[in-house]
Amino acid sequence: MAIYEEINKIKSFAFEEISKTTDLARLEGLRIKYLGRKGELTQVLRSLEKYSGKERKAVGALANESRVGLENEIGKRQKYLEEAEFAKILEQERVDVTASLEKIPLGHLHLTTSAIRQIVDIFKALGFYRVRYPEIDTDWYAFESLNMPKSHPARDEWETFFIDSANSNIVLTPHTTNGQVHEMEKGQLPIRMINIARCYRRQSDISHAPMFHQFDGLLIDKSASIGDLKGTLEYFVKQFFGPKRKVRLRPFHFRFTEPSFETDISCDICGGTGRLKNGQICRLCKEGWLELGGAGMVHPNVLRAGKVDPKKYSGFAFGWGVERVIMMKEGLNIPDIRILYENDLRFLEQF
Ligand code: PHE
Repeated sequence: MAIYEEINKIKSFAFEEISKTTDLARLEGLRIKYLGRKGELTQVLRSLEKYSGKERKAVGALANESRVGLENEIGKRQKYLEEAEFAKILEQERVDVTASLEKIPLGHLHLTTSAIRQIVDIFKALGFYRVRYPEIDTDWYAFESLNMPKSHPARDEWETFFIDSANSNIVLTPHTTNGQVHEMEKGQLPIRMINIARCYRRQSDISHAPMFHQFDGLLIDKSASIGDLKGTLEYFVKQFFGPKRKVRLRPFHFRFTEPSFETDISCDICGGTGRLKNGQICRLCKEGWLELGGAGMVHPNVLRAGKVDPKKYSGFAFGWGVERVIMMKEGLNIPDIRILYENDLRFLEQF
């Protein structure tokens, strides 16, 4: 009789232990403890040979039934523990999509970058493409090829930084006009380029930064005329500044254009009057007009320097400051051009 009791005892102990287990590793330990090769119930089954006949059958049946019962119980507990574990992971890894996050500050393009993009887009509509040439260039592209031989006094206006005083042939480009002969040297005509780059000059005041940007347009074709130049400039001014701003063309002199013009646009700070509301003279323009930059018909010597035949081709060119056009754009009253590059967020975030 003792064997039946033993089996039942094992079974009830096992059931209790199983129901108390809270982790899967320990549950596996219990499976081995009772049902493994050397497990308690397995051993009882092994001892069956001691019995015979009816008794053997009865003990065997009880032992088997207990084994199946234990296996089921372990299976159930396993499933329960696995589900509990999964639920725990879900809880731990839960993301609260309603929780408020710290706001990540969003940046935006610098005023100069967005102006450059607008300029490129406007000229693109007229068939101009953007080119880029070195900002450290030789004296030849910056001056000589532009009809400004060495020691010509006209050079003084371009307050040039020389890379190495011992080798004054290399300069920081003082204007983007250095791109013109580079572009002609490609040997592909007609040309409709816009060269936009940084320029450098030894000057610093409310309307000059030592590093600034220019966009230099060059068109070379078989019958380029002053009328085409004027139409192009007016198109740009209307698109960029709006129809309200006034444009003035003044005869001027550049070594690389003939005839040459200076293009002015009415000042936005004083409304083109040269005086502020309080009667003081406008610090920015002083006389109601702001100089945008130069323009003119490409000088035959420049065409020759670029190996373009002036008898067959003519061209017009213009070179304006990007910062200047930003300052003059409607609604932007910037009292000092240098603030653009001081990286003061209080200023930059306003745009
Ligand atoms: N390069 C001239 C400047 O820096 C501007 C200019 C460009 C004038 C092209 C005429 C033609 O002032």
